[in-house]
Amino acid sequence: MKTRITEMFGIEHPIIQGGMHYVGFAEMAAAVSQAGGLGIITGLTQGSPENLAKEIARCRAMTSKPFGVNLTFLPALTPPDYPGYIRAIVEGGVKIVETAGNNPQKWLPVLKEAGIKVIHKCTSVRHSLKAQSIGCDAVSVDGFECGGHPGEDDVPNFILLPRAAEELEIPFVASGGMADGRSLVAALSLGAEGMNMGTRFMATQEAPIHDNVKQALVAASELDTRLVMRPLRNTERVLKNAAVDRLLDKEKKLGANLKFEDIVGEVGGVYPRIMKQGEMDAGAWSCGMVAGLIHDIPTVKELIDRIMREAEEIIGRRLAGMRT
Ligand SMILES: Cc1cc2nc3c(=O)[nH]c(=O)nc-3n(C[C@H](O)[C@H](O)[C@H](O)COP(=O)(O)O)c2cc1C
Repeated sequence: MKTRITEMFGIEHPIIQGGMHYVGFAEMAAAVSQAGGLGIITGLTQGSPENLAKEIARCRAMTSKPFGVNLTFLPALTPPDYPGYIRAIVEGGVKIVETAGNNPQKWLPVLKEAGIKVIHKCTSVRHSLKAQSIGCDAVSVDGFECGGHPGEDDVPNFILLPRAAEELEIPFVASGGMADGRSLVAALSLGAEGMNMGTRFMATQEAPIHDNVKQALVAASELDTRLVMRPLRNTERVLKNAAVDRLLDKEKKLGANLKFEDIVGEVGGVYPRIMKQGEMDAGAWSCGMVAGLIHDIPTVKELIDRIMREAEEIIGRRLAGMRT
């Protein structure tokens, strides 16, 4: 399959693995890239620019195919060493960066100068147009279904993607709720040039996370996610668990008075305990509604090959067979 996204990133299949905190290590990114998609290392998860440089080198040793790095720009009292992370990316020869969170405008000149393609993750048409206007090469349009931060507009992909197609000139991929060949064909039909998956890639053999997390994804249904931190305008879609119940109770009780400090026990620094130790009730962790479509734990290559096979089958047989 050839789209503007496969051409832009030099990949075989129009499938991207979005940056994921404590999941996006070299093993994950390399497995996706090696299977013909675009794997992405999560920059901030590495903890320091030096560690990111090492992770990039590790990934390069595992695959000669293109891979990217995610840089998430969050509001923080003491911001991470973004210039250092960018230096690690440029010096590591990485040619694709997925940005997310705040407007990446400030960092674009140095990325562009290094010949890096930038795909910015957006949860609205408004932000997608902004990304286009400041010079991003592509956008990842993240619908309300998505795992992680869906923004505050709550527009699902069946509306958001065609709206993005109406307005954007640069290519975009569909993100949020994508799981299989049906998702890919639907995304292409709605105007996207490929798809970005987060949650689905966690339930693979190579995902470098505890087996408890993978089993929880297989067991979960589309009804098992919750939105947390809405009162803080930092909405996150997470898998329901004991910590999330506690967090939602606090949100209900404190209402508009809720502060981050009230819930730090449920959200602060919990990822290593969940992803590495498999402590499934340690805190709130991002998970998409797409969990309802995850029924197995294949290798990344099996997953990607299956998606492409299904997509071909749908386009070439099912849809073609409906024409009279
Ligand atoms: C566990 C987890 C952690 C994530 N961490 C990040 C992150 O650090 N930065 C980021 O830009 N997106 C992050 N995301 C969002 C994904 O990159 C992707 O946009 C999202 O998962 C797509 O929705 P889906 O889960 O329905 O496929 C995360 C998602 C998950 C499931």
